[in-house]
Amino acid sequence: MLNQEKFKLLERKKEVAKQGGGKKRIEKQHKKGKLTARERVKLLLDKGSFQELGMFVEHRSQDFGLDKQKILGDGVVTGYGYIKGRLIYVFSQDFTVFGGSLAEAHAEKIVKIMELAMKNGAPVIGLNDSGGARIQEGVVSLGGYADIFYRNTLASGVIPQISAIMGPCAGGAVYSPAITDFNIMVKGSSYMFVTGPNVVKTVTNEEVTAEELGGADTHTSKSGVAHFSVANDIEAIAGIKKLLDYIPQNCEEESPVVPYSEKNELVPELNNIIPENSTQPYDIKEVINKVIDCDTFYEVHKDFAENIVVGFAFLGGKSIGIVANQPAFLAGVLDINSSKKAARFVRFCDAFNIPLLVFEDVPGFLPGTDQEWNAIITNGAKLLYAFSEATVPRITVITRKAYGGAYDVMNSKHIGADLNFAWPSAEIAVMGAKGASEIIFRKEIASSKNPKEKHLEKETEYNLIFANPYIASARGYIDEIIKPELTRKRLIRGFKMLENKVDKLPRKKHGNIPL
Ligand code: HXC
Repeated sequence: MLNQEKFKLLERKKEVAKQGGGKKRIEKQHKKGKLTARERVKLLLDKGSFQELGMFVEHRSQDFGLDKQKILGDGVVTGYGYIKGRLIYVFSQDFTVFGGSLAEAHAEKIVKIMELAMKNGAPVIGLNDSGGARIQEGVVSLGGYADIFYRNTLASGVIPQISAIMGPCAGGAVYSPAITDFNIMVKGSSYMFVTGPNVVKTVTNEEVTAEELGGADTHTSKSGVAHFSVANDIEAIAGIKKLLDYIPQNCEEESPVVPYSEKNELVPELNNIIPENSTQPYDIKEVINKVIDCDTFYEVHKDFAENIVVGFAFLGGKSIGIVANQPAFLAGVLDINSSKKAARFVRFCDAFNIPLLVFEDVPGFLPGTDQEWNAIITNGAKLLYAFSEATVPRITVITRKAYGGAYDVMNSKHIGADLNFAWPSAEIAVMGAKGASEIIFRKEIASSKNPKEKHLEKETEYNLIFANPYIASARGYIDEIIKPELTRKRLIRGFKMLENKVDKLPRKKHGNIPL
């Protein structure tokens, strides 16, 4: 065939491929409430900015009749484009072609854009919608997955990686999103599990639906595998774009900034948030929203381990990461899930030069056999390690309780925080007054005529001496005790002062975080 004719044939095949696996299959996709791979890419990127790569790629398989079924692109659309003018690499699996299943050529296309993204320092966004390893290609498919997992790992901490799960994601396929920084799942149409309901039934006799086992709600509230659950594909794409507003292109760039000039930054409403009674809850998100630039809080992992709140915000025009104990949920106690959630967030922020702000109101670690047997020791240490290792600017505000090991863990000065403020309501001590007085005044209480009254008296005495921020500030562990209304002003100035911070970890191959 002449070159010209070959070219014309390819152009015709290209048009067919652009329609995915055909009109009927696209209709099926739409009926499930899903967009097609190309519709998703179009919605994600700035108008007309998508440059496709690898459109002519075909699989090379000869088995099970695959030699007669070749669709250009091999079930994944890959390339680059721009979001709000920023370079982005994207792959979007096409469920209408071989069920979006991943095989040799499909994987090679994904690897190609991942490598380009790393060399050019830009985020990779993966839109996942796939039946898993292409069964007809056998081990070659498995190899393709591993090639991707390897690149995910090498890219981790170099460029942001964001996964949207917009259809099936089962078996080993789950491990690529698991390594990426953020997972967004679409309710009702996506699921993730290592083994599906049928295998579960055979092995454990449990009856469970795909949605219950690995749907968006399950992974955002129970397992914590996913960070965001959204109603549909359109919201998923919007979520990705919003997330990108807060994060830089790569680990060499600073966190994003928007124009800001200092005004009167006093927030008097903050003076009335802490309840009179220190055992009463309040919502830390109210504090966060009053301190940051108006309406900029983007909460991550909202429905998982609600006793800690993490998310991005702008403060004085600069993107920061926030970690805050939540007294309105389990009294803000630290437990296994909250430690893991916060540790991963801290590491993301540190990897991408996003300064960290911590609000602390924590009564300690959650006691109990469940926590101890499931390794609160190792898991709590993750958060301690993550903060200790973080070299970005770090500021803590103790709003109320800072007790026990949790005082150390929550970005204390001792583990490298740069500035620590306390509100006058802060209680910084080894443990709460009730427990402490029971231990240290046990004999005195037991020998008194009225032990109950004595205990109360000793509790008050302990509170007066220890449950305040003054001892810590006299030691320099707290830089300043501030009226709550001053918090925003102090933080803006503090982060400005720290903007050129240079801090390095000791030379090493890598640390050994307690996993
Ligand atoms: C080849 C596949 C495929 C696969 C789907 N298809 N999955 N082809 N390999 N893994 C094809 C179907 O044959 C069908 O082709 C088309 O895609 C659409 O699939 P349907 O079954 O019609 O769609 P639906 O009813 O929506 O069901 C979707 C599904 C189901 C639940 C994902 O297709 C399914 O169970 N697929 C197999 C899932 C699986 O076991 N994958 C391997 C997991 S193990 P036609 O031409 O008929 O329309 C794994 C290991 C990875 O992934 C390990 C990495 C380390």
